[in-house]
Amino acid sequence: MTSEENKLLASTKPGTPMGELFRRFWLPAVTSTELVADGSPVRLRILHEDLLAFRDTNGDAGIIEAYCTHRLAPLYFGRNEECGIRCPYHGWKFDIHGNCLDIPSIPKGNNETARKRVSLKAYPTREAGGVLWVYMGPKDREPPFPRFESTLVAEGFGHASRWIQRSNWLAGLEGELDSAHISWLHRYYAPEANPIKGGGSETVDDSAPDITLRETDYGFLYGARRSHSSGANYWRVTQWMVPMFSLIPRNAGEFCEGAGRAWVPIDDDNVTTFHFYYRTDRPIAEEEEKYLASGQAFPPRLAKGSVRLGEASPIDTFLTIANLDNDYLMDRSLQADFNFTGIWGANEQDRALQESMGMVAGTRLVDRSREHLVGSDEAIGKMRRRLLNMAKAMAEGREPDEPAGADFGVRAISKMSELSVFDELRARHLHEFVAPNREAEHAG
Ligand code: FES
Ligand SMILES: [Fe+2]
Repeated sequence: MTSEENKLLASTKPGTPMGELFRRFWLPAVTSTELVADGSPVRLRILHEDLLAFRDTNGDAGIIEAYCTHRLAPLYFGRNEECGIRCPYHGWKFDIHGNCLDIPSIPKGNNETARKRVSLKAYPTREAGGVLWVYMGPKDREPPFPRFESTLVAEGFGHASRWIQRSNWLAGLEGELDSAHISWLHRYYAPEANPIKGGGSETVDDSAPDITLRETDYGFLYGARRSHSSGANYWRVTQWMVPMFSLIPRNAGEFCEGAGRAWVPIDDDNVTTFHFYYRTDRPIAEEEEKYLASGQAFPPRLAKGSVRLGEASPIDTFLTIANLDNDYLMDRSLQADFNFTGIWGANEQDRALQESMGMVAGTRLVDRSREHLVGSDEAIGKMRRRLLNMAKAMAEGREPDEPAGADFGVRAISKMSELSVFDELRARHLHEFVAPNREAEHAG
């Protein structure tokens, strides 16, 4: 990649091609359980924009701009009362749609007219799969709400989490599409110790996966095949959906039926990672809840909190316990005889690399002009090219063809099979990784 392309792809500032592209999609914004009726509002930053999420007395949640329209006081310190938030400075009150409900600082007679003249920016939101989603683009470009499996499961069948990763969004997404790293970064010397069931340890005899990628309307799916010591082929089939959604294959069994992730830029140096874990066969069990809370895989070990990024106002998020400031609690003795990194959790291992890769001097931007990509990086290359083309097209005034997210009826799988050709595997197991409503298209 050239330095120019690198910058173009990584930056999501308002008005940039990628910033505008992201504003054509529904994005996960905050998990539902963070928002309590009449409870504390949550400060968000998405695509460099300061926002405030809150749930009103009726239980409805919304996302508005973070600062009062009167004199820009931070509404976070306001009172969430009787279906609106009241600014702490002079008492103006706004509802979840940004309407001004009251201006107590002027004579009563003028209140009605005055409050109709002012409103806060509020974005359309939808609550699904344990997450409040937001659409931040132009009104006439609003795409249909995405039909991820994780947004469709019944209450109790899904578990959504989020946390801040201290890297540009692209570094996170690239790790997601990099199937080759599983055999190394996530290797445990004793396979049973591996918290990612079906992960690298079982297939350590082949760390050079053979990758077949097929582009689709939503992005692409690809199969990574490794030879297993049993003689079978170990397949991991993963989907990427524009611009930054992915599905992660897991072995069938008690745990980890399905999972997906999304990378929502905070600014150019930070990203919120969303992890969606869900089941279609039964509600999530207590043991699974424990596993999810343990930080062994995804999500990592977390503490709810707030953080100031540079000079900007604080945001409320989940902070990672193993992080760049403590070397991810790396233990060299664990590295000698337990796992390849000496770092405990799988996401902690990922972040250890993604948060401090080789950056362009003085920035937090990975210097992709210095990379040497090989065959196993095909998915990363294809994703970059596709997004660059979309971003450039938008900069020239051409909107994305199909608003992605319209109907993502797809699922990731991992599988042992005697089949060694991806298209044969895809045909045979179609029903397992394609939701019924899309089978016809995928068969073609
Ligand atoms: S700044 Fe909010 S009411 Fe004055
Ligand atoms: Fe990883």
